[in-house]
Amino acid sequence: MVGDGGRAETWTSELREQQSTLGTDLGPADPAAYTTRKPIPEPMPTDRHGPARIIAMANQKGGVGKTTTTINLGAALAEYGRRVLLVDFDPQGALSVGLGVNPHNLDLSVYNLLMQDDVTCDDVLIKTDVAGLHLLPANIDLSAAEIQLVNEVAREMALARVLKSIRKDYDFILIDCQPSLGLLAINALTVSHGVLIPLECEFFSLRGVALLLDTIDKVRERLNFDLELEGILATMYDSRTTHCRQVLQRVVEAFGDKVYQTVITKTVKFPESTVAGAPITTLDPASSGARNYRQLAREVIAAQAER
Ligand SMILES: Nc1ncnc2c1ncn2[C@@H]1O[C@H](COP(=O)(O)OP(=O)(O)OP(=O)(O)O)[C@@H](O)[C@H]1O
Ligand SMILES: [Mg+2]
Repeated sequence: MVGDGGRAETWTSELREQQSTLGTDLGPADPAAYTTRKPIPEPMPTDRHGPARIIAMANQKGGVGKTTTTINLGAALAEYGRRVLLVDFDPQGALSVGLGVNPHNLDLSVYNLLMQDDVTCDDVLIKTDVAGLHLLPANIDLSAAEIQLVNEVAREMALARVLKSIRKDYDFILIDCQPSLGLLAINALTVSHGVLIPLECEFFSLRGVALLLDTIDKVRERLNFDLELEGILATMYDSRTTHCRQVLQRVVEAFGDKVYQTVITKTVKFPESTVAGAPITTLDPASSGARNYRQLAREVIAAQAER
């Protein structure tokens, strides 16, 4: 947990040290050898819903699996009967595309919610093909919000204002951030209860994590006292490469039980599912990727039950 003062700083130096020793050690190929700590319970069915735990998927490094995790964790949580709202908070609109929505054809998007008081979530909300999984879509308009918000009062709270009224309707709200630590990301961190950091299992993935943790600390000190590090998710794990195994081992050494036991394996099914505009959990329910995200959903639900 980053909450306790100088912890992030310790991590920064630990990470630097550990990066310099990468390549010296060879662990077992099975990711469970590094990450398994305790059994993950099957989620209990629930007929009571909300208020939602809001989780931001953040990492200023591009292409680490933020959007893939938002879609597939969201779909897996919905499979377990949870009501889930996904918020596309990236002007690229990749989350919307990944759920089969064409961002160019949107009349209204998250941008309008942020900038216009007379637009409501109901006006913008799209029900996806997965039961219980809803989307607030975005497109390139959102890039203007980053500039326009600068002159607004409480500019960091714009997304918090938007989500306030609908938080009660969902069990989880997942926000897909863009790869930057700009005002949009700060808005996402300000409204969230937790930050989930996807980390690609490759050498440079650890670079920049210290900066992200510093940003999380600053938001916690100034804007959102309750912000937690939800967890660190190792993505694109390829057990055939020694390098992947070493990176995972180091990440676990650095972050301990903040690393999810679930590790997302590397498979071409993910890019394919983006093209198909559907979560892997519906496209190929028996695939390793679908199983990975279902297990992650069980971890997220179990952590929520323990709070
Ligand atoms: N486990 C995986 N195995 C193989 N490919 C993956 C995996 N996860 C994601 N990908 C692919 O990697 C690319 C980047 O993933 P994704 O878009 O989820 O990352 P991102 O962090 O959201 O990127 P950006 O920072 O650009 O928003 C996509 O083409 C996606 O399909
Ligand atoms: Mg993305």
